[in-house]
Amino acid sequence: MVRRKDDRLWGGRFETAPDARFDAFQRSFAFDRRLLPYEIAVDRAWARALERAGIFTETEVRQTIAALDKIAEHSKNEPAWVDQFGATAEDVHHFVEKALVEELGPLGWKLHTGRSRNELVSTDFRLFVIDAVRETSRVLRALINIFLLQAKANLKIPMAGMTHMQHAQPILLSHFLMAHAEGFSRDLTRLENASSSADACPMGSGALAGCSFAIDRNAVARDLGFSRITANSLDAVSDRDFALDYLFALAGIATHLSRLAEDFVLFASQEFSYLILSDQYSTGSSLMPQKKNPDSFELLRGKTGRITASLFSLFTTLKGLPSSYQRDLQEDKEALFVAHDQVQDMLGVAVGALGSSKFREDRLRAAASNPALLATEAADYLVHCGLPFRQAHDVVGQVLREAEKQGKAWTELSLSDLKRLSPLFREDFRQGPSLESAIATKAVPGGTAEQSVRAAIAGLELKLKQMENKP
Ligand code: ARG
Repeated sequence: MVRRKDDRLWGGRFETAPDARFDAFQRSFAFDRRLLPYEIAVDRAWARALERAGIFTETEVRQTIAALDKIAEHSKNEPAWVDQFGATAEDVHHFVEKALVEELGPLGWKLHTGRSRNELVSTDFRLFVIDAVRETSRVLRALINIFLLQAKANLKIPMAGMTHMQHAQPILLSHFLMAHAEGFSRDLTRLENASSSADACPMGSGALAGCSFAIDRNAVARDLGFSRITANSLDAVSDRDFALDYLFALAGIATHLSRLAEDFVLFASQEFSYLILSDQYSTGSSLMPQKKNPDSFELLRGKTGRITASLFSLFTTLKGLPSSYQRDLQEDKEALFVAHDQVQDMLGVAVGALGSSKFREDRLRAAASNPALLATEAADYLVHCGLPFRQAHDVVGQVLREAEKQGKAWTELSLSDLKRLSPLFREDFRQGPSLESAIATKAVPGGTAEQSVRAAIAGLELKLKQMENKP
């Protein structure tokens, strides 16, 4: 075997080995080993491409692919071997080349013909993101399905809809649940977008300029399951928009989880008592025996910061980079891995915590029965009688003031009191605004009337089904 002075991928022009501290600093194997299955898949496709280009003989391809299969198997079954053999690997690309040479001798050095780690790392990472999106979408769908189940089960329960945390208008509990479900369904679309931006194969881009061997780029892309190839070699080795897109989708999911958590923490408080959280997703206090704390939701809210931090971390890395590959780009992977893993945990906990929470109909209905929530209905009544809305708003304001003066709810004012404020109030108004009618009249698409909420549930179920049926 022809000897090399060390097994580095680039040692030839160097007189001395790198400083030990710097060497440890620049290695990425500790985290990019996670890309190993993708690296091996790309290696297999590249071996076949080199055969088509006349660089590899049929036997060489067969031997190379058999060795790659062996390395894949060995790494899967013996993580300790990866630790040990990888201890001197600079990155996942170096690891596989070292293992190939160990298996094949000098033939192992042949696979890197016409290619660069710059395109390899981007290709591996894109394949990782495509799988990661699939994994995240699966759990996210499970979460949305819980909202749908709960929305269907709570179509008769009213609650006090709020703006500015003040009672505003009555809505159905199902409408509130569907509001959260809609947010998460947009996250599904963002995930899809991230997957399609990752779905372009850089192989053939070389280090930056392209490839001078007769590589069929489209065939390599097809082999790896990509639907297209990247358009510009210089862009391909430095583009990390697909990673940003995935991080953006993750940050969207985390932000929606955080807002859900905020609602649930409030609703579980003694003041609201709209919710009973399950023991499984609550904790107690080491000091106060009576406490049952909504820690699952608080931590969902708390951990969101890390996800947005990962998005900004990558944005910050990319800002100011010149064209083409720069080593800074090695920082992309940890940020994304950490966010991906964290969001899997967050979604798993959210599914459990949401699914096991019980709503208290008595408390929700009591709050929804606050007559103040019907003030807008009274104004709408006057509008139906022909009064311009702004004047109707003023009249109802006076009605509320009068009720406050008399120390009763405005719905308890006598008809003559009402008529004094506007002659438009008639006997029929007495049977007029009610909690039920306030909800039932919001029958526009997207409104809180039961039929509208049912349509929204059906619409989201259809969207989920259509998304599932996509390849
Ligand atoms: N480990 C590097 C990364 O993650 C890929 C290697 C490219 N290195 C280089 N010196 N061109 O980005």
